[in-house]
Amino acid sequence: MPISTSELDELLARRRAGHSLEQPFYVDDEIFQADLERIFQRQWLFALPACQLTKPGSYVSLRFAGAGVLIVRGQDNVIRAFHNTCRHRGSVLCQPGDGHLAKLVCPYHQWTYELDGRLLWARDMPADFDPEAHSLKPIHCRELCGLVFICLARQAPDFEAYAALAAPYLQVHDLDQAKVAHVSTIVEKGNWKLVWENNRECYHCGVNHPSLCRSFSPDPAVAGVLPDGSTPERLAQHFERCEAAGIPSRFQIADSGQYRLARMPLQEGAVSYTLDGKPAVKRPLGRVGLAEPGTLLKFHYPSMWSHYLPDHSLTFRVNPISATETEVTTTWLVHKDAVEGVDYDLDRLTEVWLHTNDEDRQVVENNQLGILSLGYEPGPYSQIQENGVEQFVDWYCEALATPVSGTRLRAVEV
Ligand code: FES
Ligand SMILES: [Fe+2]
Repeated sequence: MPISTSELDELLARRRAGHSLEQPFYVDDEIFQADLERIFQRQWLFALPACQLTKPGSYVSLRFAGAGVLIVRGQDNVIRAFHNTCRHRGSVLCQPGDGHLAKLVCPYHQWTYELDGRLLWARDMPADFDPEAHSLKPIHCRELCGLVFICLARQAPDFEAYAALAAPYLQVHDLDQAKVAHVSTIVEKGNWKLVWENNRECYHCGVNHPSLCRSFSPDPAVAGVLPDGSTPERLAQHFERCEAAGIPSRFQIADSGQYRLARMPLQEGAVSYTLDGKPAVKRPLGRVGLAEPGTLLKFHYPSMWSHYLPDHSLTFRVNPISATETEVTTTWLVHKDAVEGVDYDLDRLTEVWLHTNDEDRQVVENNQLGILSLGYEPGPYSQIQENGVEQFVDWYCEALATPVSGTRLRAVEV
């Protein structure tokens, strides 16, 4: 039985401000289902960098936000997304994975679809059968500055406000000139909100992330906001220097709090996430022609955070698997003409975030285990260090409070 609106309302109403959430939000299967239906299957989600689909026919098939999703680059170079279910009797069309296809052929009875979803061929169907009425079911899909977003809702929320805010920040990073240097997918044994809460603070960084802290400052007075919501002085000066050079950098935050962009300074002398702070890639991705521009940080609840450096970019996709499991996919992007072994060394490019992700996995899993304890009760946030966590949890609670209208089909793991 799905959790009722009144039960959820009651849980949300007793939430203690400035504290972590009660145990059911992190462990309960019904709340997890509500998270999928009310948040993940309703909002725009970051799916992948467009350059991952290198040519017409390139596809990625994945389970994302509880749904079977097929993302394909068409012959016209347009990227489209479809529900991964055949219009005949519903077989899965493509197994999870990626590759290249000339057409989409169902493995069951070989109904054959064009890469744009049109049904081309169905054997032995009656004379009055209408192929046009049996195209693949589309999923809303938008490309923004080399990033592909999808929305599983029947009616997608507005995308334009986000696009208008994010595009000027992203354009300078030339993701349309990128290629994928590396992809890492891990499953953290923790609720997706614990993954986000951990991401939205650096209270844990000093002790847990020795390699990241060589280039990224864990001090909230360097790359954060002050308890009164104002911008720290060093950050304000950094914004001013970057903006004077024509690089958009100041905080841009959605009214709803769903997404934010800002170009944060790195540790003094550092320009990239490497152990010595020096660039990881000789041939830069983007046109940030400025000494020590820092890192553009962009988060977009519920599925993406990302970092854009002067030499390469990193995207992170958050995919909820169950109440206590979350998949995190990290993609390293470099200039399409950068040559591995010549312009960059893959180990040097990836080592800081491979370590950091694994360290984050450990703290998230430990957090989840402790929340499962009989003795867990919500604890207070640091007003100096954990404003971001509170901002995320506030956004989550508000998003969850809006019920889904009408009867929904439920996607079940296969
Ligand atoms: S279910 Fe796909 S062709 Fe029959
Ligand atoms: Fe971390």
